Amino acid sequence: MPSAPQRVSSALPLHPERPLTSPSHIVIFGATGDLALRKLIPALCGLAAKAQPANGFQVIGMSRAEKTSEGYRTEVRAALPPELLETWSKIEANVSYCRGDVNVAADVKRLAEHLDGLPGGKQTGRLFYLSLKPALFADAIHRLAGAGLLEAHEGDDVAWRRVVIEKPFGHDLRSAVQLNQHLHNHLREFQIYRIDHYLGKETVQNILGFRFHNAIFEPLWNRQHVELIQITVAEELGMERGRAAYYDETGALRDMMQNHMLQVLAMVTMEPPSSLDAKSVRAQKVAVLEALRPPSRKAMGKDSVRARYTAGTIRGEKVPGYLQEEGVAAGSTTESYVAVRCEIDTWRWAGVPILLRHGKRLPTRFTEVQVQFRTPPIQLFNRPDGISDDEFREKLRAGDLCQVRPNVLSLSLQPRERIGLSFGVKRPGPAMVMAPAALSFDYQDTFKSQSPPAYERLLLDALLGDATLFLRGDEIEASWSFADALHTAWNEGSTPLLEYPAGTWGPEESMDLFHGCEGGWTRG
Ligand code: BG6
Repeated sequence: MPSAPQRVSSALPLHPERPLTSPSHIVIFGATGDLALRKLIPALCGLAAKAQPANGFQVIGMSRAEKTSEGYRTEVRAALPPELLETWSKIEANVSYCRGDVNVAADVKRLAEHLDGLPGGKQTGRLFYLSLKPALFADAIHRLAGAGLLEAHEGDDVAWRRVVIEKPFGHDLRSAVQLNQHLHNHLREFQIYRIDHYLGKETVQNILGFRFHNAIFEPLWNRQHVELIQITVAEELGMERGRAAYYDETGALRDMMQNHMLQVLAMVTMEPPSSLDAKSVRAQKVAVLEALRPPSRKAMGKDSVRARYTAGTIRGEKVPGYLQEEGVAAGSTTESYVAVRCEIDTWRWAGVPILLRHGKRLPTRFTEVQVQFRTPPIQLFNRPDGISDDEFREKLRAGDLCQVRPNVLSLSLQPRERIGLSFGVKRPGPAMVMAPAALSFDYQDTFKSQSPPAYERLLLDALLGDATLFLRGDEIEASWSFADALHTAWNEGSTPLLEYPAGTWGPEESMDLFHGCEGGWTRG
C-alpha cells in the first residue's frame, strides 16, 4: 500500500547561511570610481549588515587621487544612500586608503607594505578587485605579481589570493585570448574571477533552479516542444553619467549582448550539470556557448538588425538622439540597439530560432526570457466550419478570430521578478471557444523581500572562493566568437545601421526576425 504523503511544514526551512569563515583584505583598484562608490562599497555594507562579521574584512581603496584614509571615508559616506549609513559607521574603521598607481612598481610595493601592516598580514586571504579601465588590466596583474602579491597555493583556504576582473573582458576574441594568456602567466585559473553582474541576480540564478528542480519542464525543454526562445533586455537609459565615450567605442552588441545576454541564454539552454559546483556548471555553459551559431554571412542582413536612437520622448521627457549625446564622436556608426536571430547546434536545440534583442532608450526597462512552445498539431478550437487552412490562418492573422495562442513560459528577470505561464481555457458559454489565461508567480508577493543586489552576492562568492557565478576563460572566448561574427559581417556592410526614435521599440525591421514563426517581441 502506498504510504501516506508526508506532511509538509508550512514554514520555509531556512537556507543555511554562508558566513565568511576567515578574515580577508579586499583591495579595490579604482576606489574613487563610479562602480566602487555605487556598487562595491554598498555591496560590502550589505554583507556586513547581514551579519557577516564586520571585522571579518578590511577594505583597502587604491587610486591615483591624493587623499587620506579619513578623506576617502568621508567621500564614501557622502556617496552612500541613507539606508546604508548605519552599517557604514560600523565598518568604516576597517576601511583605509592607499594612494597610488597600480602601474607604478613603487606604488604597488607601498600597497604590499600597507597590506602586510594590517591585521592578519600576509596570512590573510586577499581579494584584488580590478575596477579599472580594461586597458590597465594586464599591466595591473603584471605589477601585482611583480610585488609578490598574487602567490597562492591551490587548496589554501586561509592565505588565498584572488583577482576579480570587471567587464569588458577584451574588445573582441583576439584581445580576450591575449588577456587570458596574460592572466595565466601570473595566475592560476582558480584565482581568476571574471565578473558578469547578471549572474549575481537572483532571477538569473533561478533559471537553473526552475529548470532542474521542477521535473515537469525539462522533458519539454527541447526542439520537439519549443517553437522559439526570445530574450529581451530593454533599457530606458541612454548615455547618462558621462558614459558616451566608453559606449561609443563599444556599442550594444559588445556592451550587453556578448556578455549579459549570452550568459542568460546559456542558463536557459545549457544541459543539466552533474552538480552545482563551478566545474560542472561552467562546463555546461561553455558547451552551449560553443554551439551557438550566429547567422550565416548570407543570412546576416535578414537575421540581424542594428540601429541607433534619434531624439524622442521617454515618460513625457524629451531626450536627445544618440549622435547629439555629449561624448559621441561626430560621424559615429555605433549601434544602441541590436536584434539577432541565431541557433544552437546541439541535439536539444538544432533548428529552434533563438531571438535576442537589446536596446537603449526603449519605452520601458525590463529583461525577460520567453520560451514559446509549439501549438497543437491540429487546431480543434476557435475554427469556423468550412474554411480552408489558408483562410483560417489569414483570418487569424487579420485578427478576425480569437487566436489560439501558443503556451509561453515567461521568465521576467527585472524589474518585475516573476514567472508566468500562458495557456488557453474554455470561455464560459454554449460554444467551445478557448480564451487566453495565465498562471503567475511573483517573487516579491511570495517572499515579501527585495532580492539582494547582484554585487553583494558576487562579492560574497568571491570571498568564499566559489567561482560558479564567474566566467571561465574559454566561456568568454566562445561569447566573443559570436559577437565577432556579427561585427565582421556588419563592417563588411551586411546590415544597414537603422534609426528609431527614443521612446519607441526599435526599428520595425526587427519584427522580420520572426520569419516562419508565430508571435512577436515581448513588451514585458
Ligand atoms: C552594464 C552595461 O554592464 O549593464 C550598461 O555596461 C547597462 O550599459 C547595465 O546599462 C545594465 O545593468 P542592469 O543590471 O541595470 O540591467
